[in-house]
Amino acid sequence: MIRICHIDDLPERDARGFEVEGQKLLIIKKKGVVHLYRNSCPHTGINLDWQPDDFMSFDKFYIQCSTHGAQFQIEDGFCVLGPCKGQALKTVPFQVIDGEVVLNLQSLAPD
Ligand code: FES
Repeated sequence: MIRICHIDDLPERDARGFEVEGQKLLIIKKKGVVHLYRNSCPHTGINLDWQPDDFMSFDKFYIQCSTHGAQFQIEDGFCVLGPCKGQALKTVPFQVIDGEVVLNLQSLAPD
């Protein structure tokens, strides 16, 4: 198990990127609920952020891909706008134990 962060250290609606075992991921909290996704746009597979931790649309309602502007719902990664509309970010399973977000390395196995 790898500790990612404490849930209270995450701001609301403002994703943070990080890397585990060479895999780029992003974590975000909305209404106190944490979501973890692979940092990979379904359109081309490229990272979503063009500079570190710059994942959000201007209004912070959506996770946004910096390359062609696809927008994804925070709560399920579903793409609502852009070239990959109808697809979704890949979720990564995790647990919250005593407020700590922890990741099992087996969660990062290729699909
Ligand atoms: S690479 Fe993300 S929208 Fe094209």
